Amino acid sequence: MSLFSLRPAKRPLRRVVLLGATSAIAEQVARRLVAQGASLYCVGRQPQKLDALLDDLNVRAGSAQRIDGSCADLTDSARHAELIDAAEQHLGGIDAVLIAHGTLPDQQACSADANTALEQINTNALSVISLLTHLANRLEQQQHGVIAVIGSVAGDRGRQSNYVYGAAKGMVAIFLQGLRNRLAGANVAVVTIKPGFVDTPMTAGLNKGGPLWATPERVAQGIVRAMHKGANVVYLPWFWRPIMLIIKHIPEALFKRMSL
Ligand SMILES: NC(=O)c1ccc[n+]([C@@H]2O[C@H](COP(=O)([O-])OP(=O)(O)OC[C@H]3O[C@@H](n4cnc5c(N)ncnc54)[C@H](OP(=O)(O)O)[C@@H]3O)[C@@H](O)[C@H]2O)c1
Repeated sequence: MSLFSLRPAKRPLRRVVLLGATSAIAEQVARRLVAQGASLYCVGRQPQKLDALLDDLNVRAGSAQRIDGSCADLTDSARHAELIDAAEQHLGGIDAVLIAHGTLPDQQACSADANTALEQINTNALSVISLLTHLANRLEQQQHGVIAVIGSVAGDRGRQSNYVYGAAKGMVAIFLQGLRNRLAGANVAVVTIKPGFVDTPMTAGLNKGGPLWATPERVAQGIVRAMHKGANVVYLPWFWRPIMLIIKHIPEALFKRMSL
C-alpha cells in the first residue's frame, strides 16, 4: 500500500507463464501483457497453434522482452514440474501464472459413459490442481507472485445441462479458496476468474449473441486488471456476480424442477 494512496500497489506482471496459452481468452491476455512490456512463457497443446501465437507475440514484443514456450498436453501431470522449470529458466523467474486450458464437455456423453466424465474432470480439474500444487510451492518459497486460474460461473451451481464441467470448475474454485488462504501470508495472490458466456471456439456449438455474451478481448482486459490487483474472485463481465448470487440462492426444491 502506498503512503499517498489507499489503493494497493499494482502487482508487477513482468515475467508471466501462460498455461493453455493458445486458448482464445489466453491469447488476448498474452497480447495485453506483451503490450505492457511483459516477457512470456506460453504452453499450448498443438505445435502449429503455439508457433502461430509465438510468432505473433514476438512481432509485438520489444527487443528486451522474451517470448517463448513449449508444447504439452496438460493432462500429462508427470511433465508439470519440468514445464515450470523450463518457464522459470527461460524467464529468469516467475511473477505470475495464468492457467487457462479447458474443455466444454458434452453433458449427454458424460452422462452415458463414466470414463468420459472422468476424462473431463481430469482435464478441467485434476490437471489444474496438479499444476497449482507445483506452482504454489515455488511461489510460496519466493514470497511473491500471482496465480490466476480461469474457472467459470458454471462452477457456482450444478445444472442438468453441464454439471460435469460445473463440478470440475467448482472443485478448482474450492481448491483456490484454500490456496488463497494458505498463501496470503506469503504475499502470493490467488485469483479465481469466473467468466460467463464468452465468444470463443469452446462455445462454437452454442447459440451466440445477446447481452450476456462477451468477447475474449473484454474478458482478457478484466483478467489482466484482476492479476495486477491481486484480486480474489472476479466475475467477468461484472454482471455475472449478481446473476450468480440470485442463481445460488434459488431453493433446491424449486431449482431441481427448473430446466437449466
Ligand atoms: N468460452 C466461454 O464461454 C468460457 C466461459 C467460462 C470459462 N471459460 C474457460 O476459459 C478457459 C479458456 O477457454 P476459451 O473460451 O478461450 O476456449 P478455447 O479457445 O477453446 O481454449 C481452450 C484451450 O484449452 C486447451 N486445452 C484443452 N485441453 C488441453 C490439454 N489437455 N492440454 C493442453 N491444453 C488443452 C485447448 O487446446 P487445443 O487448442 O489444443 O484444443 C485450447 O487452447 C477455459 O478454462 C474455459 O473453461 C470459457
